[in-house]
Amino acid sequence: MIDLKNVTFSYGNKLIISNLSLHINKRDKIGIMGESGCGKSTLIRILAGLYRVDNGSIIVNGETEPLEISRKVSVVMQSPMLLPLSIYDNITMGHKYSDSHVEKAVKMARLSGWIEMLPEGLNTYLGDRADELSGGQAQRIAIARAMCKDSEVLLLDEPASALDSENSKSVLEAIMGYAADKTVVHVTHQSQHLEGYTRIYNLKDGILT
Ligand SMILES: Nc1ncnc2c1ncn2[C@@H]1O[C@H](COP(=O)(O)OP(=O)(O)O)[C@@H](O)[C@H]1O
Ligand SMILES: [Mg+2]
Repeated sequence: MIDLKNVTFSYGNKLIISNLSLHINKRDKIGIMGESGCGKSTLIRILAGLYRVDNGSIIVNGETEPLEISRKVSVVMQSPMLLPLSIYDNITMGHKYSDSHVEKAVKMARLSGWIEMLPEGLNTYLGDRADELSGGQAQRIAIARAMCKDSEVLLLDEPASALDSENSKSVLEAIMGYAADKTVVHVTHQSQHLEGYTRIYNLKDGILT
């Protein structure tokens, strides 16, 4: 469950989110559309507990403090950050998961084909290869990371923007299959990425309609 009441957020004196209230039930799939620069990524970061808001209240999965919220959500950021670690460590982020849990996430994120071609597979060190990675591969690593964390709330910031249309369709279908019993908020400027969503909002001038 996610509940925002009268939330306002600005960068300095630039108002991005204005008095926004939004209630999202458990297992809802919410799409949020809007033009570039309207504040979609900012809203995802607020929902992910990465920013403290200027005004209003936020409850995400029962938590109200940003740090606690961040522990309880899985998020795929628009420009995912990869660390100079192995692919495995970039997916698990230091958490202990069973091999089958990691393999399932790798498969769902459609990473298996590429990883099988690498001599060292999941243990491939990304430090030397970060530049060689395509945006799509980085995005799929971020998706596998979110699936491994497996939180009840999944936040997606243009998770398929770097994938071609065929790959994005297949990855988005996998995400929807995976997230059937999760609460999902997906921001994008591409309406075709929101097929099957419970509700779709538009964000403009800090306001959701
Ligand atoms: N860290 C930041 N500091 C100041 N301004 C920012 C910051 N991040 C984003 N902005 C500005 O806030 C507005 C909304 O950005 P963003 O949330 O990234 O929009 P979207 O994801 O919809 O493209 C833009 O005008 C952007 O330039
Ligand atoms: Mg954005």
